[in-house]
Amino acid sequence: MVKSKNKGKKINKPKRTLKIEKIKNGIVIDHIKQGKAPEVLRILGIDENFPGIVSVAINVPSRILGRKDMVKVENRDLNGKEVNKIAIISPDATINKIRNYKVAEKYKVSLPKEIVGIIKCPNPNCVTNKSREPVISRFIVKSKKPLILSCTYCERELKGEEIHKIESK
Ligand code: CTP
Ligand code: ZN
Repeated sequence: MVKSKNKGKKINKPKRTLKIEKIKNGIVIDHIKQGKAPEVLRILGIDENFPGIVSVAINVPSRILGRKDMVKVENRDLNGKEVNKIAIISPDATINKIRNYKVAEKYKVSLPKEIVGIIKCPNPNCVTNKSREPVISRFIVKSKKPLILSCTYCERELKGEEIHKIESK
């Protein structure tokens, strides 16, 4: 006979909230713009071959943003270029570095004055697309909100969704 553990007790109702588990070591990228978590995964090069544990939350309620995305990656750090890429697609994102279950470091991403080697200039005649020798792309941040970038070489301006096509390398 199978004895019920709940004998005599009220059976718990299923919880309405589902929290992503805390991580031991790694990074939590929080306050990601709603719907941009897949792009953050792409920036980090996380695909089906990634060996570690990755938790992704999309469209979760947030006090500040209304809705937000979140990405947790165990045993992974971020380099400066990755942080800059995240800042471009999600200017309010917060990076938390977790060490032994504690938030060891927390900072909000910030855009640099110049964005170098991250975005391809859409102008086919720009020297960054025309030259035989590789010329590294370079954009000046003209405005942060809304984000407006200007190519240093051809002065082509980039705004809104145009900026979200970030080179993966
Ligand atoms: N977190 C985690 N694993 C840990 C510690 C924290 O996954 N071992 C996550 C928390 O769930 C949270 C984020 O990291 O999503 C930041 O943690 P914390 O600063 O404790 O939370 P808040 O105060 O809510 O952060 P904020 O004020 O930045 O919203
Ligand atoms: Zn250009």
